[in-house]
Amino acid sequence: MSKTAIIGSGFIGRAWAITFARAGHDVALWDNDSQAPRRAIDFIAGVLPDLKANDLLMGREPDDVLASIRVEDDLEAALAGVSHVQENTPETVAMKKEIFPRLDAAAPADASIASSSSAILPSHFTEELEGRARCLVVHPINPPYLIPAAEVVPAPWTAPEVVERVRDFLVSCGQAPIVMKRELDGFIMNRMQGALLEEAFRLVADGYATIEDVDIGIRDGLALRWSFMGPFETIDLNAPGGIRDYAIRYQGIYENLFPQMQRRVDWAGPVMDVIERDRRAKLPEKDLVRHQAWRDRRLMALAAHKRRAAKDISE
Ligand SMILES: NC(=O)c1ccc[n+]([C@@H]2O[C@H](COP(=O)([O-])OP(=O)(O)OC[C@H]3O[C@@H](n4cnc5c(N)ncnc54)[C@H](O)[C@@H]3O)[C@@H](O)[C@H]2O)c1
Repeated sequence: MSKTAIIGSGFIGRAWAITFARAGHDVALWDNDSQAPRRAIDFIAGVLPDLKANDLLMGREPDDVLASIRVEDDLEAALAGVSHVQENTPETVAMKKEIFPRLDAAAPADASIASSSSAILPSHFTEELEGRARCLVVHPINPPYLIPAAEVVPAPWTAPEVVERVRDFLVSCGQAPIVMKRELDGFIMNRMQGALLEEAFRLVADGYATIEDVDIGIRDGLALRWSFMGPFETIDLNAPGGIRDYAIRYQGIYENLFPQMQRRVDWAGPVMDVIERDRRAKLPEKDLVRHQAWRDRRLMALAAHKRRAAKDISE
């Protein structure tokens, strides 16, 4: 068990708090809005029973998990004695540049300091820090207590042993870390998601598909396999001779497509009028928050199913 600090207690901070605490770590929540950690605690208290019902608390009780999360009004107190700091303040370089020197100054010398940044490279806000060797990005998918993959992104000066320690820490929390060898715009997952979204927007903008068609193609098509195996494992099983056979047989189909897939589509341009009209007809704006809770319940059911299936259906 180790002590951790969550800096910035909004959407992602509160979700990391659950992830760390259910694995038995102590969590201190801090935010410059003193009410934010208290709102986070209320949210967490509401979610824990659902997680318990889906056996997603690593065998612990909601009350125990909640008891290991505390609010600190003072940054120094939150950082005292911690071995890992997870920063979750708003996504601007200016914000990260303001908070990281404070974390580097106050966290114990051997603590790792990770930012949850979605897209800012760690070299863009850690270069000047005395303790830059212990700083890196750990980018989760929201919410990390239901989606295990997290990208571990070192700056050029991040110490390899820090990367290794953070990787081990994430594994201890039940996460599935993707350790990047060096930083890259978009990391790994947003590059893949971006390629898919760009094609989805283009298909709708060019009038080949409705947004429901695109959603069916993923939800009732490709994602069924992708929910338990990746694209490489998928194609390895889709040609009699395995992955090389797949490449030889099918590369030609895709090669033909790539030149057609180069033209950019403005996501917020005229196509958005069509997309937004269709989405709002399906889900009125006032129901967005309720539907986020629905998505999380579906994710819980999926996580519980995946764990059961991994046990029941051997390799
Ligand atoms: N929301 C997502 O889906 C998602 C996914 C992955 C990563 N992230 C990343 O996580 C980080 C946080 O995003 P979020 O969605 O939780 O945002 P959020 O707006 O929900 O939370 C941000 C929190 O930071 C606090 N804050 C603002 N200024 C601060 C300061 N000076 N010091 C301390 N706290 C301060 C706010 O009060 C708020 O509680 C961002 O870097 C974002 O890119 C978000």
